[in-house]
Amino acid sequence: MAEHAGLLVEDVFHDDEWLTVRWLDGQQSRFPAIWLRDNIPSGRHTREGQRLFDIAQLPDRITLSSAALTSDGGLAVTFDPEQIQDVFEVAWLERHRLDRAAREARDVPPTLWSGEHQEKLEFIDYDRVAGDPTELAGWLRTVRDYGFALLRNVPTVPATVLEVVQLFGFVRETNYGRLFDVLTKRDAANLADTSMAVGAHTDNPYRDPVPGLQLLHCPDSDVEGGLSVLVDGFSAAECLREDARPHFDLLREHAVAFRYTESGSVDLRSAAPLIQTDPSGRVLAVRYNSRSAAPLDMPVEVLPRFYDAYRHFGRLLEDPSAQVSFKLGPGDLMLLDNQRVLHARTGFTGSGRHLQGCYADKDGLHSTLRVLEGRG
Ligand code: OGA
Ligand code: ZN
Repeated sequence: MAEHAGLLVEDVFHDDEWLTVRWLDGQQSRFPAIWLRDNIPSGRHTREGQRLFDIAQLPDRITLSSAALTSDGGLAVTFDPEQIQDVFEVAWLERHRLDRAAREARDVPPTLWSGEHQEKLEFIDYDRVAGDPTELAGWLRTVRDYGFALLRNVPTVPATVLEVVQLFGFVRETNYGRLFDVLTKRDAANLADTSMAVGAHTDNPYRDPVPGLQLLHCPDSDVEGGLSVLVDGFSAAECLREDARPHFDLLREHAVAFRYTESGSVDLRSAAPLIQTDPSGRVLAVRYNSRSAAPLDMPVEVLPRFYDAYRHFGRLLEDPSAQVSFKLGPGDLMLLDNQRVLHARTGFTGSGRHLQGCYADKDGLHSTLRVLEGRG
């Protein structure tokens, strides 16, 4: 019996192909010989650093010739045919358990929400988030779990949105610039730059890859109306899966083309399913934008059924009971997971409304959050 880093291992045993660890809590974890060989501690440059060899260099059939706990709580393993020996930390093995319960526990599923989430909307003070890593972690965790987060009292100085991005990542520059303005303009190329309502959408589905995050900051607004409306695309996708599985399947199996043009300077095009899933069927991303959807281009016999599914999804997204809303006033800011949460805007009267936005990548936010949480 070995105790190490607060972990208790009852016993280990092995045959040629499998190592089995019996933990003191009665659970068992199995590890294949090839997986252990692939992950030997000395195979990395530093403890959690980069691997020093390539899978192609490993022998075809790797077996375990011995596995035993050491007196200081390590696990010494010898591999055949290479006769390589290495010592795993029991704590490391515990963190990488491959049994189903452990794998599920490592996974943080999104928290799906609908209109009732309205009561939980919280605008956090910018100074708190900018000045305290714990508050920042909490704010970023909200984005990870709910797909959006809000700030208030952000300085109304132009370009401050770029400082907000620096709290967790890097700006994704596009043809709209590092920063773009949403302003009521005559002859606007983009409907966002009018006072008309803008339906629920994710931004820039015509890019590959789409921007993972969008920030919108309000330096100035005195208009009537112009509410921001948000809807959880993951939640709507799950409703669709439940209500009409064939509709869900059509939307994840057929790509929709999106396009944005500005004459003589821009012709952006990208095609992808409205609902993207991973191999296990879990929703990874949603894209939806009526304004920039190009004419559907898919086998003609699929089109009538596809339209039924597309309209069904659109109605779920536009259902007021799925939505939350608020008004972005001077100093407010929203940060959205642009592959999950759709945003809309109601129409307004007046012209004194100014938003500044920018895009950023999601990986930077998740990386910052892990570092702040000390998970490395
Ligand atoms: C946008 C947008 C919404 C708004 O610029 O992407 O959707 O509130 N704007 O003006
Ligand atoms: Zn938008």
